[in-house]
Parts: sequence; C-alpha cells; structure tokens
Amino acid sequence: MNQAEAKVQIDSLSKTLQEHNYRYYVLSNPSISDYAFDMLLKQLESLEAAYPELAWPNSPTKEVGGDITKNFVQTAHKYPMLSLGNTYSKEELLEFDERIKKSIGHSVEYVCELKFDGLAISLTYENGKLLRGVTRGDGTKGDDVTNNVKAIRSIPQQLTGDYPESFEIRGEVFMHRKTFNRLNDTLKKELLDQGVDEDKIPERLYKNPRNFASGSLKLQDPKEVAKRSLDAFLYFVYSDDKVSETHAASLEKAASWGFQVSDHFEVCKDIEAVWQFIQKYEQAREHLSYEIDGVVIKVNQYALQEELGFTAKIPRWAIAYKYKAASARTRLLKVTYQVGRTGAITPVANLEPVLLAGTTVKRASLYNADEIERLDLYTHDYVYVEKGGEIIPKVMGVDLSKRDLFAQKIEYITHCPECQTPLIRKEGEAVHYCPNDSHCPPQLIGRLEHFISRRAMNVDGLGGETVAALFKKGMVKNYADLYQLTYEQLNGLEFELEEDADGKVKKRSIKEKGASNIIAGIEASKEVPFERVLFALGIRMVGETVAKKLARHFGNIDNLKVASKEALANIYEIGEKIAEQAALFFADADNLNTIERLKAYGLQLEVKEEAGLERSSKLEGKTFVVSGTFSISRDELKAIVERNGGKIVGSISKSLNYLIAGDKMGPEKLKKATDLNIKMISESDLMEMIK
Ligand code: IVH
Repeated sequence: MNQAEAKVQIDSLSKTLQEHNYRYYVLSNPSISDYAFDMLLKQLESLEAAYPELAWPNSPTKEVGGDITKNFVQTAHKYPMLSLGNTYSKEELLEFDERIKKSIGHSVEYVCELKFDGLAISLTYENGKLLRGVTRGDGTKGDDVTNNVKAIRSIPQQLTGDYPESFEIRGEVFMHRKTFNRLNDTLKKELLDQGVDEDKIPERLYKNPRNFASGSLKLQDPKEVAKRSLDAFLYFVYSDDKVSETHAASLEKAASWGFQVSDHFEVCKDIEAVWQFIQKYEQAREHLSYEIDGVVIKVNQYALQEELGFTAKIPRWAIAYKYKAASARTRLLKVTYQVGRTGAITPVANLEPVLLAGTTVKRASLYNADEIERLDLYTHDYVYVEKGGEIIPKVMGVDLSKRDLFAQKIEYITHCPECQTPLIRKEGEAVHYCPNDSHCPPQLIGRLEHFISRRAMNVDGLGGETVAALFKKGMVKNYADLYQLTYEQLNGLEFELEEDADGKVKKRSIKEKGASNIIAGIEASKEVPFERVLFALGIRMVGETVAKKLARHFGNIDNLKVASKEALANIYEIGEKIAEQAALFFADADNLNTIERLKAYGLQLEVKEEAGLERSSKLEGKTFVVSGTFSISRDELKAIVERNGGKIVGSISKSLNYLIAGDKMGPEKLKKATDLNIKMISESDLMEMIK
C-alpha cells in the first residue's frame, strides 16, 4: 500500500467508525456488532501505526465515542472517564500480562470482574449524599443525568458506614433481560395499537438491553425512567482520601456503604487464574439475568496501578477480554428477495452451508438495500456471518482478499419477485415495498393471517401456516372465503410448509380432529365483537385502539363505510392519515363486496351495546373537553359526544363550550376552566342533553 492508498483507507475507516460511535452512543441504535466495530478499529490502529502522519487528530482510536446529547447540561469529569484496551484472544491477554511483569519486575495479582453490557455512569457523593450522576460523554465531560439516576432504585441516595467525605464512584447502568423483553413486548403492543405495520415494528424496538438502557437514561422525564426498571453495578472508586490498598478491598468497602457491587469478582494470583475465570463465565453468562460482553481484568494493588499509569486513552493496568459472537466465513451463492406480509422486501443472502455455533447456516438476512450498499457486496463474495443475540444470522462483512476477478456488484431488484409490480421506497425509509397490496400473494396471505390472529378474529384451530396453504391451493382467496370452508374439504388435506431458514421443506396434513376444530373456530369467530372485526379487516393504520374508536363512533359498518374523509378526520385523535386510509379502503369495490359477504355469513358488524348508541345532531357545533373519571371509560364518553354531533378538543380555551367534569379532575384544568368561565357539566348532564 502506498501513502495515497493508506490515506483513503484511514479517512474512510475514521469516518465510518465515527458514524458507528454516534449510532451506538447517541442514538442507542448500532448497526454493526461490537466485534465488527472492534475489528475495524484494530484495522485503523495498525494503519495509523504505519502512517502516523495520516491519523486524524480526533481519530476514533484516540477518542472515546461520545454520548453527549443536546438535551442535558454537561458537566466536566474530575477524573477523565477512559475506556479500556480490549482483546478477543488469549495471546493478547498473555502479552498484556508480559508487559506488566516487564514494567513492574515481578508477577502481579489481578481482579477479574464481569464486563457488564450497559452504559458507564459516574456518581459523585458528598457527605454521604448523591450529588451528581454524569454519563461518560466524550470522556472529559458528560451529560448530567442526576434526576434520572435518582430513578434507579439500586443507586443509593444516602450512604451508610465509613464512606469518604467526598468521592466519585463509577459503574454500569444496565437493564435485566427480563425487563428488556417485557418492555419491548409492551412497546410492540403500543405500536400495534397505533396501527404501525407489523413489518415496521422490529426497527422501532430496541435491539438489546444495552440500547434500551442507554435510551432510557437519556429520557427527559425521570418518571418515565423509573418505569424502565434500570439497575446498576458499581465497580471503581475514585477518591482523594485513600480508601484501601487494593481494588478488591475498595469493592468490599463500596458494598458496605450501600452500593450494589457484583458478587461475581475474583482475585486471581496470576494470568492463568484469570484465564480460568474467563472460561468459567463464557459458559456461565447464559445463566445471568443480565448481559455481559466479557471480563475486565484490573491490577489489584493501587500502588502498582499508579506505577503503570495511563496511555492517552486507556489505563495500562486494565484490559477487557471480550467474548466473541460466533462467526464464520462462507461463500455467497445468490441474493434472493422475500416479500413480507405488508409488502416489505427483505433481501436474503443464500450461502454455501457453514457450521456456526452448532447449526448449519445457509441463509442470512441482508436487511435492506442500504445494508447491501454498506457491505459493498459482489456476486460470489466470501462473507463473514455472525450469530449474535438474534436468531437469524447476519452478514457482517466481506473478505475482499477473496473477491472474484469477474465479480459483479449486487444490484437491488426493481420489481416485486412475487407479482412483478415496480417497487417503491418511501422517503426516509430504508425498506422497499411492493405497493400491490390487493393482489400480491404474500400480502394477501398476510391479510388472512392478520384476520385469524388472536387479537383479531381469534380463529381457534387455524394457524398461519394452514391459512397460507389454503391460499396457495386456491381454497381461500380472501377472508370471506373462510366462512365457506367445509369439513369435507379440510379433512385429509395435505400441504407443504414454506421453506424454513435452512431451506428445508416440511409436510403437513389436516386430520379429522384438526378439520373439525378449524370449522368450529371459524363458526365461533362469528361472535367476535364489531370492533375486533373492524381491526381484523386490516385497514392500514387502523390498529386495535383506532378500530375501537371507529366502532364506538359509528356504531355499525354501514355508517362507517359512507363516512367522508372529513367526517373521519374530525373524530378526536383519528387524524388525516388514518381517515385517508379508511376512506380508501371503503372506496374499493372488492372490499365492499367482501364486507357484504361477511354480513351474510353472520359476523358482528355493529356494536352490541344498548346505551347511547343512537346518533343525533343534538350537540352539533358544540365543543367539549373531557376530564376526570366517569362511570364509563373516557373513550366511550367521547364517542357518545361525537355520535351526537359534538366535537372533542384536547385543551381548554376561551372558545370551548363545555367541560365534562368527572371525578379526580386535574386541579389545573379546573382552575383554567373557572378562570375562563367555561360551562362545566357532569356525565348525567350530558346524558340529559342528548335524550
Ligand atoms: S473499569 C479505568 N469495570 O466497559 C476503569 N468497566 O470498555 C474503566 N465496563 O467504559 C472501567 N463492566 O462502561 C470497568 N467491571 C467493569 C466494567 C466496565 C463494564 C464498561 C465501562 C467502560 C467500558 C470499557
């Protein structure tokens, strides 16, 4: 490599690494694995070593990735918050030990701790009281997140015992796996309720507990932070007053002052004992309730730490041994494209089978066109695949040294592989879509699957695989066809499942019991209430909550299907976009035909409630704010107002006609309404008005 080539590489690597740092620390949404990042960093380090004059002054090899955001006040760290040197190999670990022995002149004792996968925090205590909590930031100054730190139960606000008058303690804020799963599930449910397409949900969820923790600590509302159940382990005391002779003793002391210190640390008499510890936790880490990404090895004696000192970026007396995600190199055979249930296109790398973490991998996700561009993928490239937290393996990079002379750049498809419709890509979105939602087969199957799903029609006995097979056999083209299926048609039916990730095809058949279960499930779904039928129809952006609102507002499908876009948009919290989608759906002759059929089969297409269902124009031209609690839910009350021609608005202003006041109404609203002389009415006053 000559100087000019080196410059191109150094510039490109520095830029890429800076972007990845930004995604990791600021956005909490990294796009590559830690391992891939560390490998790029090492590549840059060795280039900079060979061409020091080309290194950027603010190179990612010299500066820690910053997590500073604009939303917090920044505070300078009294002791800089450095990162650690890291390694993935035993050889480098032994070299670390050799360097230390050479520098000190004899072997030393180490403390091994777990490397918690969260985000670093620095806490300052004065006279036993928590004064400040600051993120690592750029290492010199970080975001002051004191109020958020106070929302973490395991961080003491008042210490006990013989703590120093003033000191700092560093640790890691993290989220337990269970909490992560629970919160991500809740988030998923909320997004579904908001009508977000199922395909788009994964990108809106947090990828792992670390990202969720760091996103949480940067929230603006400490009450919201409290709901995230964050936790923290503390692992390093900085004090001008001497706390102890060794790091291990300082951990014991910190625990005695009330800090949560992990039990999983050991004093190791030499590097071989360190290696034992590393191996032990490589297995044991699966059983921890939180994620670790390695082991941190620190020289135990403070006097020796001082003697060893620091480089510009890292202490010489500590190193992180990181566990590698399982990875392998194999050849790309071809790229195929899957069409998702909502028309989203996913490119898939078909690979020469390779053994990875105990399973044979034949395919890996390529996510989207940008990812293929980022990988700079060519035909028949040798690629690195990795199995991280996710089940589906991912292509992490390309072995450029093995690229074919005649290789061609992978060009993204322009047309849907299932129905040949030209693909679209919405502004600001990474994913391509097939817009042919009414005729593209996988999208039709998607609508069927949604229709029968638990939260929609909940058709017992019938699963996604079977319904997809019925579609492929031409027995069910749209959901109304389900109601024409007979036991005779189903009993004994044989079908093949879609290929699984490894390209295997499995056979299934429906037996007597299965067939009668399906028929019974379909029959029972005729009792599913209107609001869920409405949700099941699969109108874009009409999630469960919106479906409920529409059902209550219009009372039945006939009122809804003739509603104008304006009328729909006027409903409180519905908005233009949803109104447009609903209007589009009901303008389609095929959809109207399907609805008539569903009606004929006896599905619930009107709300089955007695009170207040009638429509009137008694409240026409009047505006209402609803506040407090009532005998019915606030949403039901709002729907009653709207069914009678009234308009719900969000806030109290001079022009408001009525405030419907319930129990436990907010004092601010009450004051504002009184100040502005707004007429306040009760729930029963409202019922009188519409009688
Ligand atoms: S010691 C100078 N101990 O790993 C002391 N760090 O890559 C530096 N980390 O920024 C930190 N577990 O966020 C230390 N037991 C542990 C740790 C730990 C996780 C994180 C920490 C640090 C990063 C360094």
